[in-house]
Amino acid sequence: MKADVETRPVSASAAAKARGDVLLSVDNVSLSFGGVRALRDVSFDIRKGEIRAIIGPNGAGKTSMLNVINGFYHPQGGIITFKGKRRHDMRPYLAASQGIARTFQNVALFRGMSTLDNIMTGRTLKMRRGILAQAIYWGASQREEIRHRKAVEHIIDFLEIKHIRKTPVGKLPYGLQKRVELGRALATEPELLLLDEPMAGMNLEEKQDMSRFILTVRDTFDTTIALIEHDMGVVMDLSDRIVVLDYGRKIADGTPGEVQRNQAVIDAYLGIPH
Ligand SMILES: Nc1ncnc2c1ncn2[C@@H]1O[C@H](COP(=O)(O)OP(=O)(O)OP(=O)(O)O)[C@@H](O)[C@H]1O
Ligand SMILES: [Mg+2]
Repeated sequence: MKADVETRPVSASAAAKARGDVLLSVDNVSLSFGGVRALRDVSFDIRKGEIRAIIGPNGAGKTSMLNVINGFYHPQGGIITFKGKRRHDMRPYLAASQGIARTFQNVALFRGMSTLDNIMTGRTLKMRRGILAQAIYWGASQREEIRHRKAVEHIIDFLEIKHIRKTPVGKLPYGLQKRVELGRALATEPELLLLDEPMAGMNLEEKQDMSRFILTVRDTFDTTIALIEHDMGVVMDLSDRIVVLDYGRKIADGTPGEVQRNQAVIDAYLGIPH
């Protein structure tokens, strides 16, 4: 097993991670909702190929940060740079078409649709032909459809959810719904995957499975991952670097070891005001 890991070829993203190439940078971002200052002058970056955790107590601004990154919220101040280009006027569909996918803190799937069809919706962005073209170029459309189905089946195999491919997701236990949602995000073939509490509400075994999938996604799909998670064991195990938010401010940024020893972080989690 060990030899396997050591002889594994180094992926492009792992090599980029080692070089420290920045995929996304957040500079002095501030976001308010009326009087609530959800993000205050937050700066950090995400390097290509890393698993970057965003942690902090409830209400710290973690989900708001993901919503800024994927263009759902527009910050009042600050700059977001993705793949070297400063972003203006971002919208979620634009972020998606540029390679940013996400899962939600509260699962957001089509409950009446099957696992297969939910994951298939992730391919919509990749479908080149509109309705008219589909009617005219019937054969080519069929081939395209088959190609997308194959990609989706591959994801279903990878996530070990073959047995539920035809099941309406509303009938699935929560842990499996979270897995289907990961599948839909993967179907877009993202460069940057934003995961908002992918293990919330899961038992230990489900968490271990999800951790394994996240690591494999990074290692074999060359996907960079930003991860919000409250389970500190999971965060410390999975992440390369961690940014810590508290009351909308960044209070720490570093490796798991550095963050664990940081007094401001310890105080924030114990609820000590600063
Ligand atoms: N759409 C919104 N309208 C008004 N206030 C909001 C909105 N979204 C977030 N907030 C506020 O911004 C702050 C940060 O919320 P956010 O959801 O980003 O926190 P979080 O770190 O994800 O918390 P949790 O761990 O509970 O999910 C909170 O005070 C929250 O009430
Ligand atoms: Mg949240």
